[in-house]
Amino acid sequence: MIIENLTVRYGEKYILRNFDLKIDDGEFFVILGSSGSGKTTLLRSIAGLIPIEDGHIYIDTNDVTDLYPSDRNIAMVFQNFALYPHMSVYNNISLNLKIIHMPKDEIRKKVNEVANVLHITQHLNKYPKQLSGGEQQRVGIARAMVRNPSVFLMDEPLSNLDAKLRREMLGELRSFHEKVKKTIIYVCHDQDEAMALADRILVLNQGKIVQMGTPDELYDHPADIFVAGFIGNPPMNVLECEAERDVSGTRINVMNSGYLHIDDEIPEGEMYMGLRPEIIGLADRDGIPASFDYFINSGLDVEIHAKVGDVSIRAVIPKEEIPANLRELHNGEIMHLKVKPGAVYFYNKSSGLIVKEVEYGVSRKIKKAD
Ligand SMILES: Nc1ncnc2c1ncn2[C@@H]1O[C@H](COP(=O)(O)OP(=O)(O)OP(=O)(O)O)[C@@H](O)[C@H]1O
Ligand SMILES: [Mg+2]
Repeated sequence: MIIENLTVRYGEKYILRNFDLKIDDGEFFVILGSSGSGKTTLLRSIAGLIPIEDGHIYIDTNDVTDLYPSDRNIAMVFQNFALYPHMSVYNNISLNLKIIHMPKDEIRKKVNEVANVLHITQHLNKYPKQLSGGEQQRVGIARAMVRNPSVFLMDEPLSNLDAKLRREMLGELRSFHEKVKKTIIYVCHDQDEAMALADRILVLNQGKIVQMGTPDELYDHPADIFVAGFIGNPPMNVLECEAERDVSGTRINVMNSGYLHIDDEIPEGEMYMGLRPEIIGLADRDGIPASFDYFINSGLDVEIHAKVGDVSIRAVIPKEEIPANLRELHNGEIMHLKVKPGAVYFYNKSSGLIVKEVEYGVSRKIKKAD
């Protein structure tokens, strides 16, 4: 699917401007962005549900720009889905198949198959008002899944589900995609959901593409401070710092908190430094003193919140490294942290773009040897 030069505005306000995008056939493509970034607008433009000011949209090499939504060969799950209240769940799901005159037993087989995947078999004879929000949402997904379009468009289809069911649905959606091998364009604002589903993620901010790549590319090499803070859970620590050359690399003065020595040479001046919570570790008394705030136990690891100087730091510590006395720490007590070897990111303070990504704590001599 190709989007060329797409421009959409509501009144005087441009939501998308000269927007270009190419999505490969069969790709599970996730559009990730915060509320109001233009995700739904983009999806509705592809579906033909809103007027566009300029641009072209191609599906399967056909220019569909001037086609009615029903002629674009797409199936859409809406953010605010609407089921037909006077029809049973079964009829809601099968409606589009009846319209194309699919034989009755084939319809039954398809509906049962999809209902099974989405755990709604027991609701097929009920009416929408008898279902919970999450169940209705799954009926909406089922209605799209029984069809055989070129492209599935899904706008936050799991937003009404509880955490456990959402997790299960992520798995089901991946297997569904593997089975049908169709292009899925999936919109969400949850990075965990995007990481779990996507072949490729597009991060959208105020109608513009900030970065596009595989989940690993975005996690390992965030090209922009927005992506750095958005991808990764808990989010990356972003600290103000100033870089200063010294004899064997660069001294990074972290504002009001201390400094870090980096072997690499990076441009001097004020910058943002990004440290993933996973590379902050606990240290003995020779570490960086920090004032303990609180911790969150996730079972497998513990997220510690503390302040170094004025700066709040998040650290994710594997459970086996947690000392027995951590639970006895009180707010404001002094503990010690260190930066473990790993990736450290530097971003330009005004543009937010990456300046340099370095491997902290791995000296160049050792790097050359292997
Ligand atoms: N019908 C409309 N009329 C005027 N402005 C609109 C309309 N629909 C959306 N907007 C505006 O366009 C911008 C993008 O909206 P859009 O619905 O595409 O965001 P979104 O990324 O889907 O957000 P969310 O995550 O909240 O669903 C927002 O600033 C919104 O207020
Ligand atoms: Mg939306």
